[in-house]
Amino acid sequence: MPKVAVLPGDGIGPEVIGAALAVLREVAPDLSLEECRIGGCAYDAEGDPFPPSTQAALVEADAALLGTVGGAPDSPWNRLPRPQRPESGLLRLREHLGVFANLRPVQVMPGLEHLSPLRPEIAAGVDLLIVRELLGGAYFDPRRERGEEAAFNTIGYTRAEIERVGEHAFRAAQERRGAVTSVDKANVLEVSELWRDTVTAQARAFPGVTLNHEYVDSVATLLVTQPERYDVLLTENLFGDILSDLAAVLPGSLGLMPSASLGAGTGLYEPIHGSAPDIAGQGVANPCGTILSAAMLLRYSLGRSAEADRVEAAVRTALREQPTRDLGGTASTQELTAAVLRAL
Ligand code: NAI
Ligand code: MG
Repeated sequence: MPKVAVLPGDGIGPEVIGAALAVLREVAPDLSLEECRIGGCAYDAEGDPFPPSTQAALVEADAALLGTVGGAPDSPWNRLPRPQRPESGLLRLREHLGVFANLRPVQVMPGLEHLSPLRPEIAAGVDLLIVRELLGGAYFDPRRERGEEAAFNTIGYTRAEIERVGEHAFRAAQERRGAVTSVDKANVLEVSELWRDTVTAQARAFPGVTLNHEYVDSVATLLVTQPERYDVLLTENLFGDILSDLAAVLPGSLGLMPSASLGAGTGLYEPIHGSAPDIAGQGVANPCGTILSAAMLLRYSLGRSAEADRVEAAVRTALREQPTRDLGGTASTQELTAAVLRAL
């Protein structure tokens, strides 16, 4: 019986996780779902935003489904020393699981083109997957220094680090439209030359997938003018951070966007939005980002693609029937969730 660690967290986290659990119980009733604490609520209960009890539960888990962490701007959590704040719990969780590949699908669903800031005919073409390297590059390179008048960071990658995230991009492309665009700045950066060489060599093992290379600055433009060019975008950590936030505005609501973070072992699945303290407790949060994260969990950690497809189709149907407030509708979290369950 596959085990899923469920971490609702703070703010709207428990509300959107409640919706995703209802869906998982419907499509995968054999799963063992174990709830554990993370973030501010974990600090309040156990004095640690990533407590030992949660770490112990993760040892047994095949996958982890996370809600959101963090408090309102005036929350007492924000006055704690940084390692005890809710957000540190999440960063420690990601590092603990060694999740080096962050997958973010970005799609404008049919019928929801009007929410996108893009013109409808351009919005209709948005259906891409960003695969971002998550544990390397400038953010983790130990070669760094901060002086009074000068400072530097270093973007270092090894061939092995590039290959392990590249593998995720090529495999994902095989399941999609078969095109990987590798993002770099090989015209000025040596590390991008290695990135490009490594990915080019790796592509030979995936004959059904076409690979092309684009410079990151060009991708930033084309992502909003010709998004239909892209199927899978493969990128290093810093470029991916920026491009994935840019891409996140394309569907028009943060509440729609799921993500998966994968490594050697337990995968981590979470919506990309935060704890939305302004609407927490009101029952109006859009649960789709979390439900779609649960679908990614079924697909990537449990190999249940058919169930994942069913959930994604049900979400599309439900969104047309019962849109939440962030989508210009009036449905509550529960009403949208009920519509998803009906569509299943
Ligand atoms: P946020 O994503 O929580 O909220 C931004 C805006 O989007 C708000 O108006 C909110 O109501 C709305 N929104 C977000 N998710 C929604 C949903 N599912 N349905 C409907 N509306 C939704 O970002 P913000 O306000 O910057 O951060 C709030 C807290 O969340 C902070 O404590 C921050 O540190 C934390 N945070 C946590 C993240 C995580 O758990 N992965 C990620 C980002 C922020
Ligand atoms: Mg970011």
